[in-house]
Amino acid sequence: MSRLLDRYGAWALVTGASDGIGEATARRLAAEGFSLLLVARRQARLRELAAELAAAHRVQVETLALDLGTPEGVAALLQASAAQDIGVLVTAAGFGTSGSFLTSQAEDELAMVDVNCRAVLAMTHHFAQRFAGRGRGGIVLFSSLVAFQGVPNSANYAATKAYVQSLAEGIGPELRARGVDVLAVAPGPVRSGFAARAGMRMGATDSPGTVAKGLLEALGRRSLVRPGLLSKLLEFALTFLPRRGRVWMMGKVMSGMARADHAG
Ligand SMILES: NC(=O)c1ccc[n+]([C@@H]2O[C@H](COP(=O)([O-])OP(=O)(O)OC[C@H]3O[C@@H](n4cnc5c(N)ncnc54)[C@H](OP(=O)(O)O)[C@@H]3O)[C@@H](O)[C@H]2O)c1
Repeated sequence: MSRLLDRYGAWALVTGASDGIGEATARRLAAEGFSLLLVARRQARLRELAAELAAAHRVQVETLALDLGTPEGVAALLQASAAQDIGVLVTAAGFGTSGSFLTSQAEDELAMVDVNCRAVLAMTHHFAQRFAGRGRGGIVLFSSLVAFQGVPNSANYAATKAYVQSLAEGIGPELRARGVDVLAVAPGPVRSGFAARAGMRMGATDSPGTVAKGLLEALGRRSLVRPGLLSKLLEFALTFLPRRGRVWMMGKVMSGMARADHAG
């Protein structure tokens, strides 16, 4: 039996499973023998992936198409997931924006707070209690390279990731005492649907598969993982700078990544 299946039990819930890192993590979990509850808005993509994974790995795969940017969507997820004895929660649903703060649309930025922070907190709070009650569980939260300093040209996205990083660090010790592992994942640039939605142009990237492999190896062993070579290299390049130097450097990097048509 796989280490993770043995440690947490048979079911994993993966949000953001219709694309990128969430999809890659779902694929690896199914290969390890987990049954899955897959969540995102695009039902057709979820159903296609579910059929493929169920056939390839002989596991149960269920899908839930809903919008985590709404309180109703989050409530529906918590209600629907009561039927399975979930042991692993992977909260990969999220998105970013890029460009000038002054010309950004307030509703887009607030929607990002709803998906990246509000929904993540609601799910984490709910499953922390369920997992503590059963005495075991694993929670994977998505931070980022950008979480560790302010980032000009992607200020609110970086702030949502700082929130998640801080949340993971804060709840980790408390939940560990109840048998629940919390892992913050801080990738660098990853090739996925993320860049197009954020209006970013990425150069070198890690693959979603690399991130999924790194996070599943770290789950239950560490509290923070920087999966992939790029995330480690970029963090090393920033390590010796004071915080305001990190902000300056990330602003330079991000001004090159924000596409002109999104830069405002
Ligand atoms: N890619 C990177 O460079 C990078 C770097 C560091 C951290 N991260 C973080 O890693 C996580 C995964 O990103 P990714 O690269 O895999 O992005 P992605 O390829 O764009 O995938 C995002 C996933 O989130 C789902 N999603 C977005 N909005 C949603 C909503 N309102 N309700 C439900 N599901 C929603 C999308 O599905 P639907 O569109 O079908 O709803 C999709 O499955 C995010 O939290 C991101 O911030 C990414």
